[in-house]
Amino acid sequence: MSARPVVLDESIAFVTNGRLSSEQTHALDWLRQTCTATSIRLSSLAEANLSEYSALWWHADTLLDGAPQFESEAVRSALVSFLDNGGGLLLSLGAVEAVSWLGIEPTKPDVLASTSPDSDGYLRSAVFTDHPLFDGFDESLRVSVNSTPASASVRYDRWTPQHADVLAARFDPDTDTDHPDQKTIFEWTRSDDSGSVIGIGQSFSFSTGDDVTTRLAENALRYVTEVDPHSAVGRPKGRTEFTAMRSAVPDERHRPAYHFTPPANWLNDPNGLVYWEGRYHLFYQYNPAGPYHGTIHWGHAVSDDLLYWEDYPVALTPQPGQSDEDGCWSGCFVDDGGVPRVLYTGGSGQDQLPCLATSEDDDLRRWEPDPKNPVITGVPAEADVLSTVDWNAEFRDHCVWREDGSWLQLIGSGIAGIGGAALLFRSDSLREWEYVGPLDIGDWRVTGPVWECPEFVPLGDDYLLHVSDYSTVVYFVGTYDDQQFDSHTHGVLDNGNFYAPQSFTDDDGRRVMFGWLPEDRNRGAQWDAGWSGAMSLPRRIKPGPTAHPIIEPASEVTLLRGRHDGYADIRVTPDGSDYIETSGDTLELQVTIDPCDSHEFGLILRQSPDGSEATQIQYDRLHRTLTVDRSTASLDTRANDSPQSMPVDLTEQGMVELQVFLDRSVIEIFANGTQCLTSRVYPTRDDSVGVDLFADDGHVRASLEIWEMASVWEPNKRTERP
Ligand code: FRU
Repeated sequence: MSARPVVLDESIAFVTNGRLSSEQTHALDWLRQTCTATSIRLSSLAEANLSEYSALWWHADTLLDGAPQFESEAVRSALVSFLDNGGGLLLSLGAVEAVSWLGIEPTKPDVLASTSPDSDGYLRSAVFTDHPLFDGFDESLRVSVNSTPASASVRYDRWTPQHADVLAARFDPDTDTDHPDQKTIFEWTRSDDSGSVIGIGQSFSFSTGDDVTTRLAENALRYVTEVDPHSAVGRPKGRTEFTAMRSAVPDERHRPAYHFTPPANWLNDPNGLVYWEGRYHLFYQYNPAGPYHGTIHWGHAVSDDLLYWEDYPVALTPQPGQSDEDGCWSGCFVDDGGVPRVLYTGGSGQDQLPCLATSEDDDLRRWEPDPKNPVITGVPAEADVLSTVDWNAEFRDHCVWREDGSWLQLIGSGIAGIGGAALLFRSDSLREWEYVGPLDIGDWRVTGPVWECPEFVPLGDDYLLHVSDYSTVVYFVGTYDDQQFDSHTHGVLDNGNFYAPQSFTDDDGRRVMFGWLPEDRNRGAQWDAGWSGAMSLPRRIKPGPTAHPIIEPASEVTLLRGRHDGYADIRVTPDGSDYIETSGDTLELQVTIDPCDSHEFGLILRQSPDGSEATQIQYDRLHRTLTVDRSTASLDTRANDSPQSMPVDLTEQGMVELQVFLDRSVIEIFANGTQCLTSRVYPTRDDSVGVDLFADDGHVRASLEIWEMASVWEPNKRTERP
């Protein structure tokens, strides 16, 4: 950080509780060197002429708890009208707690400590790297702060504020550890005309004269006295804000161009999928506080064609004191005779229980949690549901359907000592449920101790049950009669980075599925990228000639095709390379390979000219296996380089037929209409865009069709859609 003269052409009031502590004296000394500073007692704020000041700074190195002034309504309303009139507010350390008292924030900070950690620093959010609060900081997202003496810490760990952007969490420089869930720096953006509020809850001490602290203080005070707030916001409501947020974390090398990703921060399971009033709705597990799993909300996006998505405001937010206070976990849409509802899992402490919410608008923008939540208050005693260190009972995720005038519901669970289970419930009202029994139970040695996200849907004359068993999405096909399911066939929906899928039917009766494509690079790399998680392409699931479902990309995906190159009947041998001139990182490829006398052969993607990076999709004819070899996919050691495989038989004509969608870090492979494997790769080089064919022995004959695929996110694309 470069030194620069600190001058703020502002008049700022330093709020005190009375006698100044030594820390406050240091802070006030610094402020006096920086601007015109006045010290003012909190208790006399109501009588003071606050319009003389452009900002107030309340720096409390002890917790506010119990301070009498804290209760005074006159003081509170003086502060609120100061903000309403455009004044800015910096709250630091213990004073951050005041946000709820001031009515700025309904969710209270949940960590109030009278000490601060010995080794401390900030983990800055990639979404806000250009936030004026960090002017003069270098690009690193991890900032060490010189050791701070013991003083108050106020953070949001368990919860996240509802009206703030999280600008930074905690970083521990001694152990080089990120603590993304320990949120410490916030901005509360209020209505257009009112002033901004910055909260810095930890590692902000003037006694040590640390230059990170003084730089932050100067930036914060300058910022809260400015008229224009920062453009990117963590809780977007409209299109301009969403665009700003998406462009704040471009990650152009890895962020998919035609798969859905969150505007920024974290995404996992698809939820509440529905075709409603002529539009597709995709809700998804979303953490607005950063690209990590925590404080889960429901994000929302809407589309006319399953390809181009419009971001909608967050649909479900955890409510402190309610049964979903720790997270609004996965769930499904319910069409209750024309009333749109969702059933989801509310997390609270060690409980996971079903909650209902209802929307009153056709757009499905606003959702009201049901006053009767949770709609099931405990697990059925007779089921012997597994409990773990985290949960009183593993009991979550919902699939609801109507049958013979009743509602039926499946909940994902596990039976102690036996295995993952899909538990069946029945209801007349959606608000009171009786336990019917397990629809299916697995063997924990084969399909794990817990089944997440069960879904049960018709498949021709049969039924398909799929469950996510922590690693794989397993399916069972069988007959269903009188609430009994007998499976005769099983398989895996996707053999790679694909989890917790959900499906819905549209007006044409098509069943369309989305699955979560988790990242396969470490948490630090995800934090640095500022976003995590993508949705699969929409996949159509339908009955086929065998008992296994056919899985294929929805036909709409062809609308993204642009420039086309075709390569017919190429002879590929171990001596050759550079068969294919087309290159790119957003492509659809259809390849048909006649193995001839070769045993190992395939396709290469994301290859650099010097071969230092390349991902091989290799078919092993002897073992009838397709493998994505990621050993050289990336020079970045933070990316997983382990291989991913699936069994694939040759077609009746003895061919290998692959449809492959490459979208930067996503590779979605559809083989012979029934087998899928999705992989994630993170090449580091701009020139890792080569495409090629290879044969390790003998020779093969191959034909390849390649299309460049359009981006669905570039500005203006939405209006130019095909
Ligand atoms: C699956 C899952 C669900 C849960 C949700 C929480 O990925 O663990 O079981 O409801 O994610 O985000």
